[in-house]
Amino acid sequence: PRVVRIGLLGLGTVGAGVVKSLKSNHQPIFEKTGCDVQVVRTLVRDPDKERAVRMDRDTLTTDGLAIVRDPAIDIVIEVIGGIEPARTLIREALRHGKHVISANKELIAKDEGVLIEYAEKNGLRLMYEASVGGGIPIVRMVETYLTANRVHAIRGILNGTCNYILTRMEEDGQSFAEALRDAQALGYAEADPESDVEGFDTAYKLSILANLAFSVPSSVFKIDRMGITKLQRVDLDIASRMGCTIKLIGEARVSEDGTVAQSVSPRMIPRTDSLATVRDVFNAVTITADVVGELSFMGRGAGELPTASAIIEDLTEILRNPTPNGRRDQDRRIVKQGEG
Ligand code: NAP
Ligand code: HSE
Repeated sequence: PRVVRIGLLGLGTVGAGVVKSLKSNHQPIFEKTGCDVQVVRTLVRDPDKERAVRMDRDTLTTDGLAIVRDPAIDIVIEVIGGIEPARTLIREALRHGKHVISANKELIAKDEGVLIEYAEKNGLRLMYEASVGGGIPIVRMVETYLTANRVHAIRGILNGTCNYILTRMEEDGQSFAEALRDAQALGYAEADPESDVEGFDTAYKLSILANLAFSVPSSVFKIDRMGITKLQRVDLDIASRMGCTIKLIGEARVSEDGTVAQSVSPRMIPRTDSLATVRDVFNAVTITADVVGELSFMGRGAGELPTASAIIEDLTEILRNPTPNGRRDQDRRIVKQGEG
């Protein structure tokens, strides 16, 4: 078998999920790709910390550059989060000819395509399925499907932590603080949960999808945003008496003149709306397009295993097809050819 050596940046919730899943599903991955995938080096901040997975101490390092510059490593998986050092490490991995997989929605959204373009120019893949919707294969769907369509709208629940908190407050009468603590213990929340509860995380994901789906660019810096921190139990009780529930909704729409309107805010959702049935850590996204109409997707939006699933799907895609081929890449090339 072909041995594929992975450099893993980060061994927290998601990194541990990747290690566990590569181990538990080594055989099906091998059968589908013909590759023996091995995590050979892992970046952490503290090599002596107690871990959810057992790793050979010699494979752990605090030197990320040594991993991304190591000629023995084929593919880098970035699950440390944040802008730096993640951006530098990804760029350096690409500069050294390695495909990269990242779950980092903040970086992918704020980078506005620069790293993706750098990867494409170098014939490499930078994949980020895990950055949106946890285990839901929504990035690949929007990127490679819907060629026959113009997408008009994206609407959904894109943050597992907020949906979990709202569900627990509504169904169990938990306080916001208690429900957030549970979401953190379950590995759903960001290292700084303000990103979840203030709606930033939903904005990053919405912008990633909008940039893939719409023919006009969307900027994460132009999204109207409100989180769930000001909501109280009484708001949920009032919504309930009105036959509604409250969900944090991200919505992006492109109008006929090409203007993109994007927002993240808590909204009253009638119980008859399918989004009202999306509970706990689940996410749901509806895409509206001119030919197909509405398409909806639902699944676990956070947590170690659903996120690891998305990362490993990216990995097997790279093993099968190492050439950049996303619709976004093709569209950009066509536009550039047209310009030239
Ligand atoms: P996490 O549990 O906080 O883990 C982060 C890991 O990265 C830890 O192992 C940490 O090392 C390491 N790390 C962080 N900064 C570092 C630095 N400067 N140098 C070296 N190592 C560093 O985070 P997570 O929940 O796994 O999330 C990771 C990424 O996945 C984030 O971008 C997040 O947005 C994204 N994501 C998370 C989920 C989820 O459900 N949790 C879902 C989708 C996407 P130590 O362990 O030594 O501290
Ligand atoms: N903190 C994020 C969430 C992780 O709760 O949705 C998944 O992207």
